[in-house]
Formats: sequence, structure tokens, C-alpha cells
Amino acid sequence: MKDVAGGKKKAGKNRYGAQRSSFSLVEYIILFIAVAAVATVSIFVSGAVDDATDGNTAVTALVTGAVLIVLSAALCAAGAAFRRACAEKPVKEILRATDKMARGDFNVNLKPRHIWGKYDEYDVICENINSMAAELSKSEILRTDFIANVSHEIKTPLSVISNYAQMIRLKNLPEEEREAYAAVLVSASARLTSLVTDILRLNKLENQQIFPEKTKLNAGEVMRESVLAFEEKIEAKGLQLVCDIDDVAVICDEGFLEIIFNNLISNAVKFTERGTVFVSLRNDGDYFRACVRDSGCGMSAETGAHIFDKFYQGDTSHSQEGNGLGLALVKRVIDILGGEISVESREGEGTSFTVRIKKL
Ligand SMILES: Nc1ncnc2c1ncn2[C@@H]1O[C@H](COP(=O)(O)OP(=O)(O)O)[C@@H](O)[C@H]1O
Ligand SMILES: [Mg+2]
Repeated sequence: MKDVAGGKKKAGKNRYGAQRSSFSLVEYIILFIAVAAVATVSIFVSGAVDDATDGNTAVTALVTGAVLIVLSAALCAAGAAFRRACAEKPVKEILRATDKMARGDFNVNLKPRHIWGKYDEYDVICENINSMAAELSKSEILRTDFIANVSHEIKTPLSVISNYAQMIRLKNLPEEEREAYAAVLVSASARLTSLVTDILRLNKLENQQIFPEKTKLNAGEVMRESVLAFEEKIEAKGLQLVCDIDDVAVICDEGFLEIIFNNLISNAVKFTERGTVFVSLRNDGDYFRACVRDSGCGMSAETGAHIFDKFYQGDTSHSQEGNGLGLALVKRVIDILGGEISVESREGEGTSFTVRIKKL
């Protein structure tokens, strides 16, 4: 027989491997011995009173009854105390903890009891509640961080828009300046649009509301189009572009591939002031391997450890364009496609991103 977790059932153990707490064999034996002891003592007392009173049945019954009542009451009291310690107390602790969590306080740490060295179901419940509280508090921190990051990212372009919109209204403003201010307005609103688009996209990807729409594609062609979109910027920066892109037939989501290629190439161009941006795509058995390499500023190990975090930007001065969501999106898309991404970087020498994704 298979249980929920898929393993064979073991007597006395639940699916977490915990031993049952209620009425284990030992408890049954203790209860049996206690009842037998009460009966034996009563019989013994009854015999003794019968002897002492020379067969006075009324007195014998009265004394035996009284002894039985006292012993049974003691037994019940012991049972109740045992139940209180083993069942009521932990249930109350669990109730207090869940009540605290229901009020939004996730600072909960229930201590498993391990009574008689047993790992019982209460212990499992305590551990589950502790990990639930830890998870909830983690996502609460992520949520507040996320709101703080979004607000911060939105505030900068919004204040630019507000300032320049006021300046553009000034009378007698030379046409050239008006043009320049309008250009700033356009770029700040474009930044806002791209921020909101990235947030919505990432949110959908994380909530599994976007599924890959797999179609027959030439991955090389998708990459070439991404490169073309950045040609102007590459030329403007005087960078050398080297492409070695093969035609590779794949069944994949075109939008997902665009997210990957656009973000990697955009970063390579953004973080390279002189030298080369190298882009390649090759067949690799059941996979295709895309590489974007640059001779730019590179990154430290500390930066490298966080590049896939949402809103993380290595340059905290935010002097470069961007919102720190690009690589988070890339990573999420690659995870959904079941691919891999690796990065090699040396400060001052350059960075190389390699992506490996299944062709089918
Ligand atoms: N090619 C690269 N060269 C140097 N640093 C990079 C490169 N690509 C990514 N990074 C680092 O990773 C960070 C996160 O990248 P990304 O998520 O695309 O955000 P953004 O481009 O908006 O800064 C960047 O801010 C940068 O510090
Ligand atoms: Mg980027």
C-alpha cells in the first residue's frame, strides 16, 4: 500500500516518520496495570475487611466501595494530568502561535517536546508551524523590500518628469532648450514604461501566469535581430561588434529568447566603454549555446553573487540606465525553459555570459 508521500506505511508512524502520541502500546499497558492494581487492591481490602469484621457484608461492601472510589478518582486525576501535559498544553501553545500569526506577527518558535524521546505528531505540527512562520516572514520582508525598490525606481523618473514639465512651460524659452527638455521628458517616461513593463512581466513569470508558447524558430535569427536593435548604440560608443551566429532550428518561445538575448546584449553594450562585444550562438547536441562576451568593466565577486536578484545594480550610484530587473527576468525565463546560465567576469577585463537551452 502506498501512502500520500508515496512510501510504504510503517506501523505506528505517520507519513513524516513521527511516532503516534495518543495511546501508544506503552500507555495501554500502563492503563491496564493501573486498572488491574485498583482491582487487586480492592479485592485485597475486601478480603481483609471481611476477615476483620467476621463476614460483615455491609461493612465490607462499604469499605471496598470507598477504596474503589478513592483509587478510581486518583487514577482519573493522574490520567487527566497526563492528558493535560501531553495534549491540552501543546494544543494551547499551538493555538497561541497560530493566533499570533493570524495577527501578522510571524515571530513564532514552538519548541517540539520529544516526550520520552519520541518524535510525535505534535513535534511535526510544531516544526511545520515554525517553518510556515519563517516562510511567511521571509515573503513579508521580500514584499516590503519590493515595494521600497519599486517606489525608489519610480520616484527618480517621476521627479525628472515633474521638474522638466515645469521648465518646459517657461515663457521665452529658446526652442533648442525646449527640444532638449522634451527629449528628457520622453526618455524619463520611456524609463518608467520599461520599469512597469519589466515588473509586470516578472510578476507574471513568477506567478506562472505566462507559459512558453513554443513554436518552430531559428534561434540564430532571433539573436541576429536582437543584435540589430543595439547596432546604433554599439556604433555610437565606437565598440567593435563580432558575431558568430549559426542557424539553429529550435522549438521555443520567441518572446522568451528575446528577453534573454536583449538583456544580455544590452548589458554588454552598457558596461563596455571600449573594445569588443562578442555574440555567438552554436548547436550543442540536444541544446543550443548562446554566449555574450564583452571587454567592459567586469564585476567583482560580491556583485556577481547578486546579479540575478531583483532590482540589484552593481553600480549603486545608478549612473547607468536600467532598473536591475533585466537579469532577474533572464534567470526566471531560463528556469522556466529548463536551461542554464553561467557567468565569468574579471573586474576591468570583461564579462562573459553563457546560456544553454534545450532545442526542443
Ligand atoms: N556585462 C556586464 N558587465 C558588467 N556588469 C554587468 C554585466 N551584466 C550585468 N552586470 C551587473 O549586473 C547588474 C544587474 O544587471 P541587470 O539585472 O541587467 O540590471 P541593470 O542592467 O538594469 O543594471 C548590473 O547592474 C551590473 O552591475
Ligand atoms: Mg540590464
